[in-house]
Amino acid sequence: MEIRLESQPYFAVQSDALVTYVFDKDAKFDGVLGEIDRAINGQLTSLVSSGELTGKSLELTLLHFPQGLTAKKLLLVGAGKPEKFTVSDLRKIAGAAVRHLKTRGVKKLAFLTREGERGPAAAQAVVEGLIVADFETDKYRTDRKNREIESISLCGFDGGLGADLQAAIENGRVVAESQNFARDLINEPSNKLTPRMLAARAEAMAKEAGLAIDILDERKIAEMKMGALIGVAQGSNEPPRVIVVRYTPEHPRQGAPVLGLVGKAVTFDTGGISIKPANNMEKMKYDMGGGATMLGAMRALAKLKPSISVIAVIPATENMPGGRAQKPGDVQVAMSGKTIEVINTDAEGRLILADAVYYARQLGCTHLIDAATLTGAIEVALANVHVGAFGTPREYLDRFLESAKAAGEKMWPMPMDEEYEEMIKSNIADIRNTGSGKGGGASTGAWFIKEFAEDTPWIHLDIASTCWADDGRPWLAKGPTGIAIRSIIDFALKQ
Ligand code: BES
Ligand code: ZN
Ligand code: ZN
Repeated sequence: MEIRLESQPYFAVQSDALVTYVFDKDAKFDGVLGEIDRAINGQLTSLVSSGELTGKSLELTLLHFPQGLTAKKLLLVGAGKPEKFTVSDLRKIAGAAVRHLKTRGVKKLAFLTREGERGPAAAQAVVEGLIVADFETDKYRTDRKNREIESISLCGFDGGLGADLQAAIENGRVVAESQNFARDLINEPSNKLTPRMLAARAEAMAKEAGLAIDILDERKIAEMKMGALIGVAQGSNEPPRVIVVRYTPEHPRQGAPVLGLVGKAVTFDTGGISIKPANNMEKMKYDMGGGATMLGAMRALAKLKPSISVIAVIPATENMPGGRAQKPGDVQVAMSGKTIEVINTDAEGRLILADAVYYARQLGCTHLIDAATLTGAIEVALANVHVGAFGTPREYLDRFLESAKAAGEKMWPMPMDEEYEEMIKSNIADIRNTGSGKGGGASTGAWFIKEFAEDTPWIHLDIASTCWADDGRPWLAKGPTGIAIRSIIDFALKQ
């Protein structure tokens, strides 16, 4: 998709469709909207009086062959209440426009921002919205229609900001394409993305992006005594991998923080011997969403160049009930030396994260973020609305939540009280991998990981209910969402 900053005025741009947006109670059109209304003989005003055009959030009104405009269609997207409007809305508006128009034969589109939204932040959000919305999950359909939008002209931006706007457009492209890179991985079925194949995809990405990469195979993993990861992997014929991707700034500072990004990559989670029911089990191909999130973030950071070092550590394995599988009641010794009683083999994510988090600290990470499709309990608590965000110390989590807000990704702080720690005490080992069965499943899962992060500032993002959208949204295809990537990128760039 070609995206360019248009130097011509919007009404002169040759396109299949011109897109702009209308606020709720935008009864009197002024500025560019007034201009458009006059050009099309007051059609906007009459659509408002007939009640068809209300400006309510993401309402879509399509006009064909609007006289007085060069474009063949005019799409008006509802923008909601002006006092509540943010750049995140702009991202959704741009996305909804792409998804509406691409099924209507539109290849060339012009997007007009209104007065007040003409700086770099707006430009970046629009570009992100456009590119993320253009992603489809039909790669394995032989009757796939090639409906991608070919080119987009951004109109209305403040010409005086040329270089800044150009940079914002570039950044938006990098972020959105990295989000789509992760979504493509998450969408892959498990026979097309085993741990070894994921490692190969990571290697190709790292090479292209100019990142250092190191892949630990099953021998190295055994040598390092990653007993918690090995316990999960031993039920499968597919060997595990630990993918380590590094970004180092051009001028690394002595004593500067090193950010560790740890992502759960269970390429298929059957539950193991504590096997899951057949219903919906196919969805467990996306249990590598945390790992894909971190690979997507690294891809973007390679290009956006934060001033700190960032290391991604991604433990990748299947969770299968093979003949050598671990069994409920087994005790595993994690790399850190802590002993774990495996009560439920389906609580495997925390096991593989235990070793990955510990290893990330050994590699020198001073700060950690992990992302994982960890618990069904987070869906009970937050549905598919918010990511569950855990972390200690609280100030560190709060800083991250600021980035989430800036990135327009909904995340909710979850409790990490010590009572949850009590719930994962084991009778025969140091800790057990499930809680007491009396609720708080997302928090006990988080506490388990914290046992291995110890005092290192750490954030845990439970994306089990937000990584995959069962229903499409006007601005997003159904399937992998790519949630959390933008927040992590924003956070890394602000350190
Ligand atoms: N991968 C699942 C969590 C999950 C559930 C992700 C639904 C996406 C959608 C995880 O490994 C798991 O099975 N967790 C168990 C933990 C329990 C046994 C303590 C769960 O949440 O039921
Ligand atoms: Zn599981
Ligand atoms: Zn899992």
